[in-house]
Amino acid sequence: MGISIRCWQEGDCRALARNADDPRIAERLRDTFPSPYTEEDAAFFINLARRTTDDSGWIYAITKDNEVVGGISLTFGSDVYARSAELGYWIGTGYWGHGIATEAVQQICERAFRETDVLRIEAEVFSDNPGSIRVLEKNHFIREGYFCQRVYKCGRMLDSVLFACFK
Ligand SMILES: CC(C)(COP(=O)(O)OP(=O)(O)OC[C@H]1O[C@@H](n2cnc3c(N)ncnc32)[C@H](O)[C@@H]1OP(=O)(O)O)[C@@H](O)C(=O)NCCC(=O)NCCS
Repeated sequence: MGISIRCWQEGDCRALARNADDPRIAERLRDTFPSPYTEEDAAFFINLARRTTDDSGWIYAITKDNEVVGGISLTFGSDVYARSAELGYWIGTGYWGHGIATEAVQQICERAFRETDVLRIEAEVFSDNPGSIRVLEKNHFIREGYFCQRVYKCGRMLDSVLFACFK
């Protein structure tokens, strides 16, 4: 299927902004994800991603046939959470429904369990996001908890669901 995850490159700005600039993506993510998403936002993000050290987190582009189609990140915990990591991901709307997120999540989890001492990877999903829940279930994440009215997004209170998978 030609899906890969790799570090962001300076030349990815235009592709990042083109894929990320859709409110249907931002509305499922934290408010740090801009909407609208400009090339300036993309340049800022890529600079940040390239300065992030490998021991604090992995911030990767998702590519299909070498074209950037989305992003995926793993943030490593610290202190007593040092063996845990938090997963986040998005795909450009033009590429939804082709198994890309499922494959990217599989790749980053396998890599993390192989190359780091992380034992647990967790993801929190807004409860009205069945596509993302399906991505996690297809990757054998276990539903651990349900949080009522935990998220304030776009003027609404939303429930969220916590998923985790283990080495
Ligand atoms: C969620 C998201 C990453 C999925 O990406 P994707 O590449 O389309 O995902 P995949 O194709 O790998 O898998 C999607 C699965 O969800 C299913 N799905 C999609 N919409 C659905 C819906 N409304 N109800 C039920 N299942 C749904 C698909 O059928 C597919 O399952 P299947 O393979 O069993 O048919 C993408 O929609 C996205 O970027 N959304 C906005 C950002 C976001 O939600 N990020 C995750 C935050 S936790």
